[in-house]
Amino acid sequence: RKPVSLPRLHELRQRGEKITMLTAYDATFAAVADSAGVECLLVGDSLGMVCQGLSSTVGVTLDTMCYHTQSVTRGLRRVQGTAWVIGDLPFGSYQESREQAMRSATALMHAGAHMVKLEGGGWTTEVVRFLVERGIPVCAHLGLTPQTVHALGGYRVQGRSEADAERLQGHARDLQDAGASMLVLEMVPAHLASAITAQLAHCHTIGIGSGAGTAGQVLVMHDMLGVNLGKPPKFVRNFMDGQHSVAAAMAAYVRAVKDGSFPDPALHAW
Ligand code: KIV
Ligand code: NA
Repeated sequence: RKPVSLPRLHELRQRGEKITMLTAYDATFAAVADSAGVECLLVGDSLGMVCQGLSSTVGVTLDTMCYHTQSVTRGLRRVQGTAWVIGDLPFGSYQESREQAMRSATALMHAGAHMVKLEGGGWTTEVVRFLVERGIPVCAHLGLTPQTVHALGGYRVQGRSEADAERLQGHARDLQDAGASMLVLEMVPAHLASAITAQLAHCHTIGIGSGAGTAGQVLVMHDMLGVNLGKPPKFVRNFMDGQHSVAAAMAAYVRAVKDGSFPDPALHAW
C-alpha cells in the first residue's frame, strides 16, 4: 500500500469515496487501525479524557501530545503503516500568536505528525495561513470545539440558529481560503455539515455527530470499541457488536463509512 497523502485524500474525495479517520494514542492500536484500512489517524487531545482521566481536554499539554504522537508514529513505522497522522494542537499552544502556533506545530511535526489540527474559526484564519505557507498541512475544527467547552456552556450541538449556521459557514470558507486542507465538523446539524461540504472543494470535511453528508467520518477509538467511562455520546456506534476482535471492529467501521451505513443517513441526530 502507498502512504496516504493529501493528493490521495483528494483523489478519494473526487471519486466520492468517504475518508475514514479514528483517533489513536499509542503504538499498538495505531498499527491495528492502520492494518484495518483506516486512512487517517488523529492523535486527538481527547486522550486527556480517555487516557489521562481528565474531565475535559483543557488540561492537555503540548508535551503530552508530542509523547502520544511519537508513540503512534513509532507503531506505524514498526508495521510499515500508511496512515496519515494528524496531531492535535492542545489548548493554549496556538492562541497567543502565529509564532507560538508555528513553534507548537513544529514540535508535533518533529514527533512525526503529517498535519496539525486546531480548533475555532475567525481568529484562527491567519494562524492557519501562517502555518500552511510555511509547509505545515492544517486541519481546522468547527462546531463543538471541546477546548472551549467552558465558553460554549457545555457539550452541545452548534450552528442551530440561522445566524450561528451562517457564521460557521463563513468561518469554514475563510479556513479553506487560508489553506486548511481538512475540517472536522463536530456536532453540527446534518444539513449544515452537508452544505459546508458542498461549498468546500479543496478542504475535506470530516464529521463527528454531524450526519452522513461530510467527506469523511471520525470517531474516538474507545467510543467505537464500546470502551467508555461514562455514557457514550448519542452519535456513537459500538463496532465491537458482532465482532470478535478490535481489528475486525475497526474493519467494520471502515466498511460502514465507505458504504454509507455509518452514520445512518436516515437518522438525523439533531
Ligand atoms: O481530540 C479528538 O479526538 C478530536 C476528535 C473528536 C475530532 O478532536
Ligand atoms: Na481534539
